[in-house]
Amino acid sequence: MKRLKLILIFLVLSLQSFFLAAQNLKTSPEIENRIESLIQQMTLDEKIGQLHQVSGVSDLFQQQAREGKIGSFLNVRGATATNELQRIAVEESRLKIPLIFGLDVIHGYRTIFPIPLGEAASWDPELVERTSAMAAKEAAASGIHWTFAPMVDIARDPRWGRIAEGSGEDPYLGSILAAAKVRGFQGKNLSDPLTIVACPKHYVAYGGAQAGRDYHAVDISINTLREIYLPPFKAAIDAGAGTMMSAFNELNGIPASANPFTLTQILRNEWGFRGFVVSDWNSIGELLNHGIAATPAEAGTKALLAGVDMDMMGFVYSSNLAALVQQGAIDEKVIDQAVRRILRIKLQLGLFDRPYVDLQLEQSTILSNENLALALESARKSIVLLKNDKQLLPLNKSIKSLVVIGPLADNKSDPLGCWRCEGNDADVVTILEGIKSKIPSERIRYFKGCEIQGGSDKEILKAVEIAQKVDTAILVVGESEDMSGEAASRSSLDLPGHQEKLVKAIYETGTPTIVVLMNGRPLTIPWIAEKIPAILETWQLGMQCGNAIADVLFGDYNPGGKLPVTFPRTVGQVPIFYNHKNTGRPPSEEKFTSKYLDVPVTPLFPFGYGLSYTKFKFSDLKVAVEKADNITQIFASVEVQNIGDRAGDEVVQLYVQDVVASMTRPVKELKRFQRITLQPNEKKKLEFQLNANELGFYNQSMAYMVEPGVFKIWIGNSSVEGLEENLEIMD
Ligand code: GLC
Repeated sequence: MKRLKLILIFLVLSLQSFFLAAQNLKTSPEIENRIESLIQQMTLDEKIGQLHQVSGVSDLFQQQAREGKIGSFLNVRGATATNELQRIAVEESRLKIPLIFGLDVIHGYRTIFPIPLGEAASWDPELVERTSAMAAKEAAASGIHWTFAPMVDIARDPRWGRIAEGSGEDPYLGSILAAAKVRGFQGKNLSDPLTIVACPKHYVAYGGAQAGRDYHAVDISINTLREIYLPPFKAAIDAGAGTMMSAFNELNGIPASANPFTLTQILRNEWGFRGFVVSDWNSIGELLNHGIAATPAEAGTKALLAGVDMDMMGFVYSSNLAALVQQGAIDEKVIDQAVRRILRIKLQLGLFDRPYVDLQLEQSTILSNENLALALESARKSIVLLKNDKQLLPLNKSIKSLVVIGPLADNKSDPLGCWRCEGNDADVVTILEGIKSKIPSERIRYFKGCEIQGGSDKEILKAVEIAQKVDTAILVVGESEDMSGEAASRSSLDLPGHQEKLVKAIYETGTPTIVVLMNGRPLTIPWIAEKIPAILETWQLGMQCGNAIADVLFGDYNPGGKLPVTFPRTVGQVPIFYNHKNTGRPPSEEKFTSKYLDVPVTPLFPFGYGLSYTKFKFSDLKVAVEKADNITQIFASVEVQNIGDRAGDEVVQLYVQDVVASMTRPVKELKRFQRITLQPNEKKKLEFQLNANELGFYNQSMAYMVEPGVFKIWIGNSSVEGLEENLEIMD
């Protein structure tokens, strides 16, 4: 009976997903009739043309667009350029099927917001939805229909440079933010001219690359795949994402771009996804390197039959599918299915009825004051206060003298981070510029001190001389924009170059020292964490970087960000993440337990951690379990009070643990969070509701189930602090 009940629950959830996905990609008889009418008219070459995506413009590509042999372009920017190409397709090709223009609008189009890992530190889905909507508006006004975002890869290894592009290590935070970005990009209706279709990527488990080395093999259990790496993709699909991008990596021996299990069984059959899948750049052609195809024709066959509908810059489909159909190796119906999915999105975007973009729109939309204000809000909320001994921060604006030191202090390029899209250095406010907007320039000294990496350490002495003569020293250190993002894995997580040496030298002067980190990944900075009294984690905050950081440094904004990813003490601890297993010998003072001889097992800074200029008190945690109509709900409430003297934000986090189950479970799992603002002395009661099925997992038979028993629940301000209660889920 119980098994039947569980199967029923699974079926209901699958149908619900199917409905959700279908609902967001709702079609209509008009759309379907138009698709069928086009399919009937299309030649095989024209059908294959829809599955072919190229990058940039050339005479050859223009001619092929004229012949209906290209369905999509990426990396064509601006209303003029896109309209010009669109005119060829819509007015000169035989069937006048419009092109769809894609671009990596990852954290802004021209107004650049914090890198996604930074925005994740805001723990503010509503904000993330707004910045995504703003990015979509600017991109759509510039002729873009489709963004290759959100990047929703869970990353547990900070050596992997693409950790910068996602929302960190947690599947729940990652799922909430993935859905927020899809809603922001796509709005309520794909045909709205100021929205763009989303493309969650890189499907799937790309962040699990061996040794944190980009493009490397991924070998994980199906439980880990389903419980850690898949949930953000599912959340994005349930939010209505219209497309999906398949990844470069192999997954347990089958490359993600030719994997029927993930691309058809899970994505189509279980989740009901009705949009289309685009490969990553030549990831179909790379099946030969993976060694699962001997020829491009074999690669194309495997990818298409697995479920990849469009070939990004691989030229595999365009060069091989026609012959494969003529030889009978591929049924033309498979081609038709891919064409239908692509035409459906083009019709839902309204491209047939509105193929061109209004040139005026671009000018009036780009870099508006509203956009700049939102960029500042997002940058401020992304900042994490890691340390603030003796309340060194915020600085008083009456400070008589300070020096700003470091290779990133007056840098207009690196704050834009990876995937800067159309971001322009000239629009960036540097940290030095931000500080100069707060206090008179004559009180401010600036000295670079050293390069980000390489260069000489000879200038450090001059920096020391200046630091000896001022009240406070602000060090701005970290990584350059190209040290994270794609093809940017690092074997070390230390500060590059002579930067740590610079920090130590300034600290040794005895002048109160503040460190501002500007980086695309967690860094191993144990000496700085121990010795430096005040540390801000500022990621790469985009164009309003300097204003946001100056607001925090001088107390015009009280930081409330929390880490979306664990900071290790040393790269030797990697992978290290909060939702780990307990093991049979959890770490303790006992020798024969799971730990290291040379470093503590704990992280330098834990997931969910971040301080404030004020203090918050948690009290009165109450938990209740209620069962009605066979649905078990969990209700939790807690009181949070601002016991400090200034307003501030707190991110209230709810974690659970399934204490005993048929399989080992993580020591903690994030299941709810809420960022709140409290005035001094203000107290607020927060209430959370969970459905018991959120506490389930995939058991040994790979059935998703909730096992009755005792669960622990914590509510607090990070993954390591919180009030604790037990609850019991009955059978
Ligand atoms: C790149 C990236 C992918 C991006 C695509 C188009 O190789 O892996 O994230 O969307 O190519 O630029």
